[in-house]
Amino acid sequence: MCGIVGYVGSQSALDVVVAGLKRLEYRGYDSAGVAVLSDGGLAAAKKAGKLVNLEKELVDRPLPSGSTGIGHTRWATHGGPTDANAHPHLDNAGRVAVVHNGIIENFAALRAELAGRGHRLASETDTEVVAHLLAEEFSACADLAEAMRLVCRRLEGAFTLVAVHADEPGVVVGARRNSPLVVGVGEDEAFLASDVAAFIAHTRSAIELGQDQVVELRRDSVTVTGFDGRPAEVRSYRVDWDASAAEKGGYDYFMLKEIAEQPKAVADTLLGRVDAAGSLTLDEVRISDSELREMDKVVIVACGTAFHAGLIAKYAIEHWTRIPCEVELASEFRYRDPILDQQTLVIAISQSGETMDTLMALRHAREQGAKVLAICNTNGSTIPREADAVLYTHAGPEVAVASTKAFLTQLVACYLVALYLGQVRGTKWGDEIRAVVRDLSHIAGSVEQVLGTMEPVRKLARSLADKDTVLFLGRHVGYPVALEGALKLKELAYMHAEGFAAGELKHGPIALIEEDVPVVVVVPSPRGRSVLHDKIVSNIQEIRARGARTVVIAEEGDEAVTPYADHLVRVPATPTLLQPLVATVPLQVFACELATARGNEVDQPRNLAKSVTVE
Ligand code: F6R
Repeated sequence: MCGIVGYVGSQSALDVVVAGLKRLEYRGYDSAGVAVLSDGGLAAAKKAGKLVNLEKELVDRPLPSGSTGIGHTRWATHGGPTDANAHPHLDNAGRVAVVHNGIIENFAALRAELAGRGHRLASETDTEVVAHLLAEEFSACADLAEAMRLVCRRLEGAFTLVAVHADEPGVVVGARRNSPLVVGVGEDEAFLASDVAAFIAHTRSAIELGQDQVVELRRDSVTVTGFDGRPAEVRSYRVDWDASAAEKGGYDYFMLKEIAEQPKAVADTLLGRVDAAGSLTLDEVRISDSELREMDKVVIVACGTAFHAGLIAKYAIEHWTRIPCEVELASEFRYRDPILDQQTLVIAISQSGETMDTLMALRHAREQGAKVLAICNTNGSTIPREADAVLYTHAGPEVAVASTKAFLTQLVACYLVALYLGQVRGTKWGDEIRAVVRDLSHIAGSVEQVLGTMEPVRKLARSLADKDTVLFLGRHVGYPVALEGALKLKELAYMHAEGFAAGELKHGPIALIEEDVPVVVVVPSPRGRSVLHDKIVSNIQEIRARGARTVVIAEEGDEAVTPYADHLVRVPATPTLLQPLVATVPLQVFACELATARGNEVDQPRNLAKSVTVE
């Protein structure tokens, strides 16, 4: 949440920072602001609303371009989305400017203390106290990095801070605790950002910052210390995707591009992990096979869409390994005192690798002695750094706030982990698993096939634009798919959308069915678990008898559903456990098209932001 950019170098800092903010706007779009240092001193501009408002402001009241600058795009926590609450925040003398992501929990006490010393605070934010504290410390030490270290030691909570001071031109200072911040190292220039996307157009050389570290950036040097001032070890890496991956590439929305990229994302996530004989190698899993053999329980923690991937993983893990698997919302996990020990494998699933609830669940699990395996899409982010092992998904950058390709790759990664556990434990390892491995290698083609048949789904979505409610039903792995379909619709179309296990229908939800309510039903394969198939066909008849408009997602060749489907969406035949990889795609397209038809912002839905870095 909140996007932060810092720059020092030979280019126009204003241009680089604004361009970086454009790439980070998915992290929050309540307001945006910039501050630049030039020969004329410190100048800042900020505006409520999307970045485009700030850009207009910069046309009306241009700032000097400068060679040092910082910028921010905000997802509001403390104080509404107003100009006054927009970042950067300055001290009373206008010498220091600071941008912030996270929450400073002790800000009220600090604010009272500053007011007592005569400081006038102009906003409702928790951030502004930092600008005033930095100004005080700087006036004593004349060193912005040292001032930042001193201030950070007084702060409680989660924060990324980036600051500049008029008396230290050519210097940008950043600090991080529990919130993301990456350094980009270019030729005679350096960058700081919440995400590499902000500087990928300039450099692919990045440095990961660790917890409780302060970085001082000059155009020719990067100095990292702990909050205590001791030099810190850092890890440099090369970003393995380029600027075009973070651009729309001719699509109207990032979400459309990311939906279309799913076959490649799925194939990339499988690449090099399954050999020709169908055996699995997971090089990045740094938990030994003997430890994995000892595990007697798996607990999956995640939020939102990643949680739905976890719900599906439970079916695969229990079926292929016979190890009991629990799936828990990361936000609930540590508050219920879960039973964990060295024999528990905790799997933390997160696209961003920065979701605070998932991070806190991971830490809680490790404190209790459990081993944590992260499934993550973002190289070098906090969750994989703190986990005992990581299996990266290779979805590439996901910019649209609503997760699509990351979800499919999370599923692939979960299947791989389940198969791997089955392999090392020798449970059920045999023909069935080898067949699944073969099926997985064809799955990218099946996803491609689904994408080629989506026009009727788009047409249907447009015809439902004036509905108030859409319900989703599924069974077995189709149930989490129904939940995911409902989540996509809520967040993008702002409609009442709920997912149910079809078997629960008669225990209450059927009361919601009335004339012409659209109900999307994810039908399990008639092969394999055919009992479930027959039961859901009965459910379709029950809701149709009560007036529902049925939208049926069913496997090719499943004719049993045809008489009861007002709209039929065909997906290729897949083994039951893998069906979510194809059945979810029409639901993503459906939600995206409905949002467009209702005039909503597809990539930046209201009130949301990508990467939820506050609890
Ligand atoms: C929904 C969505 C969110 C995320 C959730 C977890 O489309 O994107 O529900 O899935 O916030 O985010 P990560 O995976 O980054 O931990």
